[in-house]
Amino acid sequence: MINRVGQPERVVSGMRPTGRLHLGHYHGVLKNWVELQNEYDCYFFIADWHALTTHYEEDPTLMGDFVWEMVIDWLAAGIDPGRATLFIQSRVLQHAELDVLLSMITPLSWLERVPSYKDQQEKLKERDLATHGFLGYPVLQSADILIYGASKVPVGEDQVPHVELTREIARRFNYLYGRDSGFEGKAQEAIKKLGKKGAKLYRSLQVAYTERGDHEALAKARAFVEEHQNITLGEKERLFGYLEGGGRLVLEEPEALLTEAARLPGVDGEKMSKSYQNTIALRDDPRRVEKELRAMPTDPARKRRHDPGDPAKCPVYELHKVYSDEATRKWVQAGCRSADIGCLECKQPLIESILAEQEMMHERARQYLEDPTLVRNIIADGCERAHVAAEETMQDVRACVGLSYY
Ligand code: TRP
Ligand code: SF4
Repeated sequence: MINRVGQPERVVSGMRPTGRLHLGHYHGVLKNWVELQNEYDCYFFIADWHALTTHYEEDPTLMGDFVWEMVIDWLAAGIDPGRATLFIQSRVLQHAELDVLLSMITPLSWLERVPSYKDQQEKLKERDLATHGFLGYPVLQSADILIYGASKVPVGEDQVPHVELTREIARRFNYLYGRDSGFEGKAQEAIKKLGKKGAKLYRSLQVAYTERGDHEALAKARAFVEEHQNITLGEKERLFGYLEGGGRLVLEEPEALLTEAARLPGVDGEKMSKSYQNTIALRDDPRRVEKELRAMPTDPARKRRHDPGDPAKCPVYELHKVYSDEATRKWVQAGCRSADIGCLECKQPLIESILAEQEMMHERARQYLEDPTLVRNIIADGCERAHVAAEETMQDVRACVGLSYY
């Protein structure tokens, strides 16, 4: 049984506001989002609360700039506010409400074994991450996802355990609260059909499993239901579900959509990353981009113009893989190995492709930079839509946990 039948499948993803995005983000994440918005009902949000779980000591005046710059980068990359819902996490308070309710039912041990918990504490040694908020990070992320009933969550590899945890939390919630009154009644009806003796046996085995965790009892009960002749397939399924205490799916279990990490080299030849200060921003200054690319290191074997090289040993070629067509790549392969072309010559078509791509982004961003109220309105509108969708889930969730008495 699935709720939200008939609605288009939803995608949810969030990004922590870290300031200007670079080409690594574009090829790794944003291009993927742009495609998803054509197929799914997408909810993309700025995870500002998530940023605070690790950066709570940072200068608070930076947050606003980081957020608005990032929204403009999304729009520049081709995210279409007419199709996707763009919003800011902290402006939809229901995320926090669901976070609190989910935290009630999430065992501590589940959080302690999430790999990013220890990894990040070790990586970010200069920050004190022994906080409640940091441990609870994946619960908040689960709330972000479950509140929209998302079926797909595009994330990088490092985030997959968080989506797995989200599934476990959803399952636990459904287990604890998904047994509405209708379900109980129907299950009892089906039990009666097992006959007096059969019903008694079923009930005792069910109790043995749900109250004492007796797995043998579960297997016995399953076999008993399976072999029973007088009940329909639907009733069998209900009896199986009831055995395990399962019921209605209030919260949908999402799936991770693994985004291939684009291993784009930065202008120093190492992986492009903000912490290495080797990035090309999405909306960079074209003169700077050209200068940096011209100075980018190449295969060290090509000391002089007539020394042949090997594209496999050259970071510039990694960029050709992303930006150049096959003919150009063949021209590079041959020209590099024979030393027919020089490195600057080789870089020229690349520089042109990157600048052309950037020109499109500058073009899209222009109106938003000229009139920032456009961006505010897009976000206000997105927050409103997100609010409606989140509230719908919360009404169900509040009722489930007993918070609908007033
Ligand atoms: N934790 C994610 C990251 O660091 C950001 C994020 C927060 C997210 N909530 C989310 C991603 C919900 C997907 C879905 O990249
Ligand atoms: Fe790299 Fe191109 Fe120079 Fe070969 S010719 S080393 S691929 S920049």
